[in-house]
Amino acid sequence: MEHSKLRVLISQEQIQTRVRELGAAISADFAGHELTVIGTLKGCFIFMADLVRNIQVPLNVDFIEVSSYGDSTVSSGVVRLDKDFKHPITDRHVLVVEDIIDTGLTLNYLMENILLRRPASARIAALLVKEAKQSLDHPIPYRGFNIDDHFVVGYGMDYRGYFRNLDHVAIMEDDRQPSLF
Ligand code: IMP
Repeated sequence: MEHSKLRVLISQEQIQTRVRELGAAISADFAGHELTVIGTLKGCFIFMADLVRNIQVPLNVDFIEVSSYGDSTVSSGVVRLDKDFKHPITDRHVLVVEDIIDTGLTLNYLMENILLRRPASARIAALLVKEAKQSLDHPIPYRGFNIDDHFVVGYGMDYRGYFRNLDHVAIMEDDRQPSLF
């Protein structure tokens, strides 16, 4: 398989090192507590799988699915809830896991939704944050990397459903006419 229009932005090694650091920080902060880790599908699935294996406190996992992009590389500005999570989170410590935060709209929507259910606390872990573009109402205490405003794929993130299986994060250099294979 050839990805001629992809350029490595963050290598597999860099990701694994950073995920271990994030896991250690989360483990220290929640020592003596239990966590509910809520991942935002689909992009979170690889980051979340690696992150929870580096967290040393008792936890359960759940998933929520939201969309704002469709098949585009630009946010539609409207967040839609596609799948809600199952387990009650009232009085539990919640960690929301996002693959990437771009405008921050998805996260603002999610946090509003989660805080209404009265958790003991709700914190955010994001692998990537596009620093320049955020209009965030909430801090991101656990962030992997700040990146410039590129459209990226890999390590769970997609373009039209593809590239999620890359073990690194790559920049899609020309997202007008991508050659998928
Ligand atoms: P936001 O609502 O604009 O912050 O967008 C967040 C969601 O958009 C993420 O969870 C991703 O699913 C998607 N997204 C944003 N930027 C990218 C990107 O560069 N590559 C792939 N997906 C992205």
